[in-house]
Amino acid sequence: MLDVETIRTDFPILSREIYSRPLIYLDNGATAQKPLRVIERIDSLHRNLYGNIHRGVHYLSQECTTLYEQARERVRSFIGAASPQEVIFTSGATASINLVAYSLAQMGLARDSTSPIALSPGDNVVATQMEHHSNFVPWQIVCRMVGAELRMAPFDERGMLDMERLEAMIDGRTRLVAITQASNVLGTRPDLERIIAMAHRRGALVLVDGCQGVVHGGVDVAAMDCDFYAFSGHKLYGPTGTGALYGKRELLEQMPPFMGGGDMVESVSLEKTTWANLPLKFEAGTANFVGAIGLGEAIEWLAQFDPVEVATHEQMLLERATGGLTTIEGLTIYGHDLHKCPIVSFTVEGVHHYDIGMVLDKLGIAVRTGTHCAEPTMLGCRVEGMCRASMAIYNTAAEVDALVKGVALAVNMLRQ
Ligand code: ALA
Repeated sequence: MLDVETIRTDFPILSREIYSRPLIYLDNGATAQKPLRVIERIDSLHRNLYGNIHRGVHYLSQECTTLYEQARERVRSFIGAASPQEVIFTSGATASINLVAYSLAQMGLARDSTSPIALSPGDNVVATQMEHHSNFVPWQIVCRMVGAELRMAPFDERGMLDMERLEAMIDGRTRLVAITQASNVLGTRPDLERIIAMAHRRGALVLVDGCQGVVHGGVDVAAMDCDFYAFSGHKLYGPTGTGALYGKRELLEQMPPFMGGGDMVESVSLEKTTWANLPLKFEAGTANFVGAIGLGEAIEWLAQFDPVEVATHEQMLLERATGGLTTIEGLTIYGHDLHKCPIVSFTVEGVHHYDIGMVLDKLGIAVRTGTHCAEPTMLGCRVEGMCRASMAIYNTAAEVDALVKGVALAVNMLRQ
């Protein structure tokens, strides 16, 4: 069994108090706390070993470059990519998805483009109504830019995708299906195997948003057979402003860079610039190499735990939270996938979600309130906002019980 009490000692912030009460951090879906190993690595780089990567013959630059490329290898092995050239460091999932969206749109807007992967006028992108804004707004922008259509597959009252509607939306002009591995509101894990096969049969690419999924269960991109996979480091116990994009090599080779600048060039003249090889072609400017190395540490830190034990622990937290909250009169939970990740989003009849969040805050309990950066999902649930408790490896049964007690108290107070 997972030794959660020992795990907690790795997270200095978990022993602090908020308003004289022990912090109960249940906003892990928004961002997770950092283990000492990550904090100390970042600190030590700034103190002892700091020089710009890929740019210097001097010791600091060379050593940092080596560590940065080692971090890329850690990410590669963690997500199951075939080659480090398929792993691009970004500032997070949003940057990863924008990279793909703008690159495909650029191809579609080029007058001489005949590429089958270009997003061209008259094409369409299929997304789902359970995407958070990162995997929705970039597609909305580029579809408008090129004159393509954005189609949104709905979900039902259990929070499950309507697979028939989704299938009917994918046609010969669908360039890409943008889909989450796990919804940040509903916790739903769509049947990616079926969806990816369905998309590929019709010649469409698939981008999987792994923001929540990579934390809860991980990924093997080769087995999944997605074309692109995006995730953020900060939800994976890594530093803020880090993340990665996986792309199949043959696709990344064909795609133009999204951003221009230093490090992504092979040769530059006044007339013409040629691009560096993968993955640097997509890493313009000074990369957040300290962050990437920190992300590598987070991945190593996580690797010490048995994934089955982590999943069992998180499932226990999910069931306990769901069971406890369900006993509160007028409380509705959104998302009932049997395989959902440890996220419980809820509203309470007659009580505003912000008010619940504020009372919980005063009890030292951090949850998310509002639209969770997923307004289309709110629309699908026909609510303006929700409270959300999202659990992580370091949360305990006692914390979940305190959440349930806190919500009951808040509801009683606010109803009066
Ligand atoms: N998408 C992030 C969340 O779920 C910010 O809270």
